[in-house]
Amino acid sequence: MTNDETAPILERRNFYGRRAGHTLRPSQKIYLTEDLESLRPRGVTMEENPGRLPLDFNTLFDAPKEIWLEIGFGGGEHMVHMAARYPDIGIIGCEPYINGVAMLLGKIRAVAVQNLSVYAGDVRDMFDILPSNSLSKAFLNYPDPWPKKRHHRRRFVTQDHLYPLFAALKSGAEFRIATDIEDYVRQALEEVPQAGFHLVLSSDQPWEDWISTRYEQKALREGRAPHYLTFQRP
Ligand SMILES: C[S@@+](CC[C@H](N)C(=O)[O-])C[C@H]1O[C@@H](n2cnc3c(N)ncnc32)[C@H](O)[C@@H]1O
Repeated sequence: MTNDETAPILERRNFYGRRAGHTLRPSQKIYLTEDLESLRPRGVTMEENPGRLPLDFNTLFDAPKEIWLEIGFGGGEHMVHMAARYPDIGIIGCEPYINGVAMLLGKIRAVAVQNLSVYAGDVRDMFDILPSNSLSKAFLNYPDPWPKKRHHRRRFVTQDHLYPLFAALKSGAEFRIATDIEDYVRQALEEVPQAGFHLVLSSDQPWEDWISTRYEQKALREGRAPHYLTFQRP
């Protein structure tokens, strides 16, 4: 990756997380080779869409009632659960960690949901091409905590991320955040409203349609309490 000012924007972005972990199982390699191509949205990369034309949802889903976005879906538990529960909604998920993508693809095979689109990359690439006022919901479940103070600007809940998310959401759309980090709650309550969102609910009880994710399970095992924030684009 480069920070050269003249490089295309996708190459200039700093991504501080992990893109790959332990060696993939043979079955996971097969999911990635056989399934990802048909599930991925077209026109996210510079090569496919140098003019950054807006994404056409009709190329992803068959007449969806609404479009939702999941940011950093990890192993995909929440994405697959929501897709099965809301089959008439089209859900786009973004995740640069390829092991997570492979886990999601395995779950999609098992559950056979038809209403998911999977971008194996940074959600900021997607922000470039999402039409304004197009999404009805966005989910940010257990975002990377970046505990050190000097790394807090890497957190998702900063204006560089929140502003394009706000623009992509429709008026009245919901933005949900689940986290187990108290200081993340503090920063979210400060920064998300600065981007124009209203706080609807801050709770220690999950949403009625919630499913616990891998990271939530890890937090509970390690004695940290989940917190659920609901914001709305006015
Ligand atoms: C702590 S994990 C949580 C995963 C999952 N949501 C869960 O609850 O189990 C955070 C995830 O966000 C992903 N992530 C970080 N920055 C991202 C970005 N810019 N775009 C998309 N995903 C991102 C990471 O790769 C990681 O898998």
